[in-house]
Amino acid sequence: MSTTCSAQGKIILTGEHAVVYGYPGIAVPVELFTTVTLTDDSPTLNIIFSGVKPGVNGEWYVRTIVKLCEKTLDAPVTGTVTIQNTVPLGKGMGSSTALVIAVCRCLLGEDCEVRAREIEDAVNPGNSGLDFAVIWHNRPVLFRKGQPTEFVSLPADILNNATLIDTGMPKETTPEMVAWVRERKETLQEPLRTIGHCTKRLLGGESLLTILPDHHRAQVALGVVTPEAQALIAEIEKAGGTAKVLGAGARTGGCGMVLKLPL
Ligand code: PMV
Repeated sequence: MSTTCSAQGKIILTGEHAVVYGYPGIAVPVELFTTVTLTDDSPTLNIIFSGVKPGVNGEWYVRTIVKLCEKTLDAPVTGTVTIQNTVPLGKGMGSSTALVIAVCRCLLGEDCEVRAREIEDAVNPGNSGLDFAVIWHNRPVLFRKGQPTEFVSLPADILNNATLIDTGMPKETTPEMVAWVRERKETLQEPLRTIGHCTKRLLGGESLLTILPDHHRAQVALGVVTPEAQALIAEIEKAGGTAKVLGAGARTGGCGMVLKLPL
């Protein structure tokens, strides 16, 4: 017997880091999938990956989620857990949360939202809940920490002609980036407010084309855009486009995915 469940990746249009401090953010699901299958074929637990390769911690991460599910089930999970994934890993597109949700759905059942959220908090400490909200509901969300998730309808063409540019794997994890911003948050009030205001502008009907430059500059002010990614986005802007880093960003290494929109 086998069970298969999946979860999709996401794009944060506005709100990175600011959502951690209660500012609003907007995120949309994307057609990239993490699919988890549990097959009842072994007395022990095997974990197999296919598709986008996990980082060095990939198997450890899945084992940690499985162990937390075992606590809820009060029984060991046995068999083969196969993970197929098309969400780029560690690049701001929700791969870690999609994996939490897909594994929890597969092992605990589709109605595991409360426990899956607890497991997300355990494995991704300091998260705002935005990734979980958009990936769990698989709909565009307006997220504000501590408030019920709202669903938003955005223009159908909002990401028409958008492209994703892979700038490589950040050296820092999302929890590390969140903690680093938190350490300096007193001095970062202005860019955090600007990012929250970008969400309000988007809700008010303003085009992403005019919002993204301000959002990007605020992310730069937070210190979460590497010099290389800043240079790339400066080139895009010089050529008449606009772009921003997706997700937590980085201090060193790659800066994850950049969302680019042509003007
Ligand atoms: O790097 P990602 O895709 O997990 O993005 C997280 C967005 C942050 O605002 C930086 C953190 C959070 O939990 O909201």
